[in-house]
Amino acid sequence: MEPVTVWWAALDAVRPEYAALLDDVEKARRERYLRPADRDRFTLGAALVRLTAAARLGVEPERVQVDRTCPDCGAPHGRPRVPGPLHLSVSHSGDRVALAVSAHGPLGVDVEAASGRLGDDLAAHLLAPGEAASGEAELLAYWTRKEALLKATGDGLREPMTRLRVSGPTETPRLLEWSGRPGLAERFTLRRLDPGPGHAACLALLDHPADVPVEQREFTPAAPR
Ligand SMILES: CC(C)(COP(=O)(O)OP(=O)(O)OC[C@H]1O[C@@H](n2cnc3c(N)ncnc32)[C@H](O)[C@@H]1OP(=O)(O)O)[C@@H](O)C(=O)NCCC(=O)NCCS
Repeated sequence: MEPVTVWWAALDAVRPEYAALLDDVEKARRERYLRPADRDRFTLGAALVRLTAAARLGVEPERVQVDRTCPDCGAPHGRPRVPGPLHLSVSHSGDRVALAVSAHGPLGVDVEAASGRLGDDLAAHLLAPGEAASGEAELLAYWTRKEALLKATGDGLREPMTRLRVSGPTETPRLLEWSGRPGLAERFTLRRLDPGPGHAACLALLDHPADVPVEQREFTPAAPR
């Protein structure tokens, strides 16, 4: 069975030539980032999309048609779509950029850097009745599970995280219930990811075979795709 692949890139893997791979819409978005680290995270994510899709489609990375249209407002900040049966999800935080790729169905990836600043005030927006988190690591476990799920459906953060009930941070990650969406929990599988020190991450797979293998690979500028 074809695996789901999660490409990981460190921020220092960015190269000046990656900016040249982007189309005009992506270049305009890139220019709007004021902080170099934000610009680099966006550039790396966009380059990973192009390099990965190009290898599958057999075209040059700069020729891949990437559609980022947001279904709500039409602006080019939605999840990336490429021609063919590939599903993609991008996430970036701190020192890590992730691209998840699947031929089986929609998916969502989320990575978050630990900041040491997450407090209990977050819990009110994050936790459903019956969920409890103690400390930043547990809050991040809940956060990445729920954001990965919300990215797989395309809802994003407009859907309150408190509507989703997931397994506890020390348990195997699982969606237990999505309030108002009966039947959805059974269609999801969640997988733990290993983003490296100082980061938490999760992968949500919608309508995938339960035993689909998940490969995590470190992107380096010379790595095959
Ligand atoms: C999707 C969302 C949860 C991502 O949050 P974030 O903190 O920026 O986190 P991440 O780094 O993990 O993800 C960013 C990536 O999510 C993807 N994305 C954007 N919207 C998405 C959506 N609705 N569903 C899935 N993925 C989405 C993009 O690829 C983006 O990468 P890019 O900025 O390099 O283009 C958040 O942006 C969101 O809720 N967006 C939809 C609602 C919204 O605010 N829309 C704007 C007004 S119309």
